[in-house]
Amino acid sequence: EAGRKLFAGDVDFVKGVVAISGLPPADRIEVCFAGRSNVGKSSLINALTGRKSLARTSNTPGRTQEINYFDVGGQLFLVDLPGYGYAEAPVNIVKQWQALLKAYLSGRVTLRRAFVLIDMRHGIKAVDAEIMDLLNKSAVTFQVVLTKADKISKTEQERTLKQVRETLQKHPAAFPEILVTSSEKGDGVATLRALIATMQ
Ligand code: GTP
Ligand code: MG
Repeated sequence: EAGRKLFAGDVDFVKGVVAISGLPPADRIEVCFAGRSNVGKSSLINALTGRKSLARTSNTPGRTQEINYFDVGGQLFLVDLPGYGYAEAPVNIVKQWQALLKAYLSGRVTLRRAFVLIDMRHGIKAVDAEIMDLLNKSAVTFQVVLTKADKISKTEQERTLKQVRETLQKHPAAFPEILVTSSEKGDGVATLRALIATMQ
């Protein structure tokens, strides 16, 4: 299918960006992966691309500290964002990341969709709601991707789904379909791949 075709080609790391001035030319569409530290952004990019260690992952929150650009077949960028809501990073670093994240999310013209990743065990937290508000204000379409589905039971999954559905009703920029994924087991990965392929 379309998803397989797009991702079958080369996927390459382009660059890590630490300031808005360092963003690559806005010459193709891109989708980004936002979410709290440790939610599984980098792992999902690896699962999508089928490259185990393309994006660096870690047990330690705060692994990704730059906006990392990956090129998919010369057609689209996947953008791995630094996590937010990481309480243990030094205050000045957190402020710097937040400013970069906000400038990026509200000002990138080629950003087609922001995937907001939510740990399925925890549901939407205040910091997630803040990011959703920012995306709404910036008129960036966003879509919730629930992660780590393998870690909880179907009953617990339903509970989170219910909370997310309710929250999304308050956000007009939200795409209504919620994706349930596991980078570990592969659930939902092909669906997301196909969805991204329709965006080019
Ligand atoms: P930061 O870069 O720090 O913001 O984190 P991140 O959101 O990129 O998370 P990362 O992909 O580094 O994953 C964090 C931890 O969660 C790692 O130990 C992963 O192996 C684990 N993890 C990610 N996705 C899944 C999943 O679907 N299932 C399980 N069981 N573990 C996962
Ligand atoms: Mg990361």
